[in-house]
Amino acid sequence: MKPINLIAAVSENNGIGIKGNLPWKLKKETEYYIRMTTQTKNTNKMNAVIMGRKTWDSVPSKYKPFSNRLNIVISQNEKNIDERVLIFKNVSEAVDALQNGFPNIETIWIIGGHGIYKEALDKKLCDKLYITKIKKKIECDTFFPHYNENDFSLIEEPGVPTDIQKENGLCYEFKIFQKKH
Ligand SMILES: NC(=O)c1ccc[n+]([C@@H]2O[C@H](COP(=O)([O-])OP(=O)(O)OC[C@H]3O[C@@H](n4cnc5c(N)ncnc54)[C@H](OP(=O)(O)O)[C@@H]3O)[C@@H](O)[C@H]2O)c1
Repeated sequence: MKPINLIAAVSENNGIGIKGNLPWKLKKETEYYIRMTTQTKNTNKMNAVIMGRKTWDSVPSKYKPFSNRLNIVISQNEKNIDERVLIFKNVSEAVDALQNGFPNIETIWIIGGHGIYKEALDKKLCDKLYITKIKKKIECDTFFPHYNENDFSLIEEPGVPTDIQKENGLCYEFKIFQKKH
């Protein structure tokens, strides 16, 4: 089975977005997100990213589709999104399709927003959560869903800094939580 990871940047008040955009501008955090979702152990493979329709809409056209990754958008409306993405009606359907086919895909990344994270966490689909914890309360209108933190343990991985990052007036940390077996 392909591993399923979730990646999110979350403020102290659990915020992830405001007015359809990210509430912060963190270049190095974005670089981390791109590196984590793109890198593969097998150079002949690529990763898939699963996102909600509003997250897709929020990405500036020059960055769409996300390069070197299979872009999957979750929407109830299968038409008129973009011919460069695959569309599924929910996260489970997308994951089933990826697990039962797509031999060139190495890792499945759940990249938000709220409804996508919620379905993946409620259905306990994720092996690991890569959460950037931004150490400030920030005004947001979209939030990371509640989940049972006891289902996961904090781990460290090579290549993921453990010290506090400082950028653009904000401090943040890269945390990795692994599903307990
Ligand atoms: N901080 C972070 O790491 C991060 C990551 C991603 C996004 N964001 C931010 O989050 C905001 C966007 O997130 P959002 O929560 O508003 O929207 P979203 O989850 O990206 O998209 C919502 C839409 O996706 C579809 N959808 C979502 N979950 C579904 C499910 N489980 N089953 C079926 N369809 C589903 C529906 O599309 P249809 O209406 O087309 O049916 C729904 O209207 C933006 O502000 C963005 O910048 C932040």
